[in-house]
Amino acid sequence: MSNKLFSSIDMGGQTLGNRMVMAPLTRNRAPDCIANALMAEYYGQRSAAGLIISEGTQISEQAVGYPATPGIYSQQQVDGWSQVTDTVHAKGGHIFAQLWHCGRISHPDFHAGELPVAPSAIKPAGDAFTYEGLKPFVTPRTLEASEIPGIIEQYRHAAACAGNAGFDGVEIHAANGYLIDQFIRDGSNRRTDHYGGSLENRIRLLLEIVDAVGSEIGHNKVGVRISPINAFNDMSDSDPQSTFDHIASSLSGLGLAYLHVVEVSMTGETDSNFDTGRLRDRFDSLYIANGGYDGERAQQAIASNTADLIAFGAPFLANPDLPERLRTGAPLNTADQSTFYGGDAHGYTDYPSL
Ligand SMILES: Cc1cc2nc3c(=O)[nH]c(=O)nc-3n(C[C@H](O)[C@H](O)[C@H](O)COP(=O)(O)O)c2cc1C
Repeated sequence: MSNKLFSSIDMGGQTLGNRMVMAPLTRNRAPDCIANALMAEYYGQRSAAGLIISEGTQISEQAVGYPATPGIYSQQQVDGWSQVTDTVHAKGGHIFAQLWHCGRISHPDFHAGELPVAPSAIKPAGDAFTYEGLKPFVTPRTLEASEIPGIIEQYRHAAACAGNAGFDGVEIHAANGYLIDQFIRDGSNRRTDHYGGSLENRIRLLLEIVDAVGSEIGHNKVGVRISPINAFNDMSDSDPQSTFDHIASSLSGLGLAYLHVVEVSMTGETDSNFDTGRLRDRFDSLYIANGGYDGERAQQAIASNTADLIAFGAPFLANPDLPERLRTGAPLNTADQSTFYGGDAHGYTDYPSL
């Protein structure tokens, strides 16, 4: 079998050492929302990835939706992340920051009692993770049209901060039921202004954010993550194929670094009615595939040109030296779910390398 998975690739003018990407993984180990030395150690251990995408990183206080997740909008946060990017760069790696606004997947506890914001006042089913444990989601406050420029400005500012912190680029998190995805999919967007209704209107926020962020740091340093069939966070769309085909076409021709597609649901299933090949065909830059890949499937996908790079989530979490293990066919450590979200070095920086 071709071993192209292990070969270098140009991504918007940056040379990645291989086509294995560390997927964004929230780990809730940033007290005060500031990245720290333990996180620098964790990411540094995984710097053999061709590209690391950081865990979801909030772009403002309004964007917060989980405990102990890092932000990238204050000078202290920039300083915290600089430790991480310095460590990754010293080991020859590349790292993008995943820019995150949780929207309605949040709780008033994170906002001094104020409601979380969303495209429409639709309460998601389920519970928020707060510092005091699980609490039912609330009905969010509908964003006024006049507030949208402020949201876009939060993304632009966060991208500038990411640049100052030494990140090689940013990934705009438009997946998994967070704010941008809430605008995209019609189950969570009932707006009647020009950010809701038609497909053009529902993807307008994403395109305006891409434009603002790209103008700030360069479109070649911007990737976008989408998750067309993921119902996680109570998401639905009446016609996902048309919605995401249109997104892939609209993001094409902008000189972006990549389109990153979570091809599965949160529980790992694919959907035989959804054709991810149509997204790859419509998008003109690099395509990163994610969701349930092991070494063999990853090599097949690269060899058959259905993807340019493969992102690994749980496998990278549990195997700091994943590229070496996949190259040599060594066995993999199993990820321990009990230490995924929060805690200390245990289950974080103590997974053994070969
Ligand atoms: C612990 C954990 C945290 C995650 N955090 C994020 C996140 O911050 N942002 C995101 O876009 N996806 C997140 N995901 C989804 C992963 O990036 C990935 O899409 C998912 O694990 C499927 O890939 P895999 O089968 O290779 O693990 C998370 C997944 C896990 C297991």
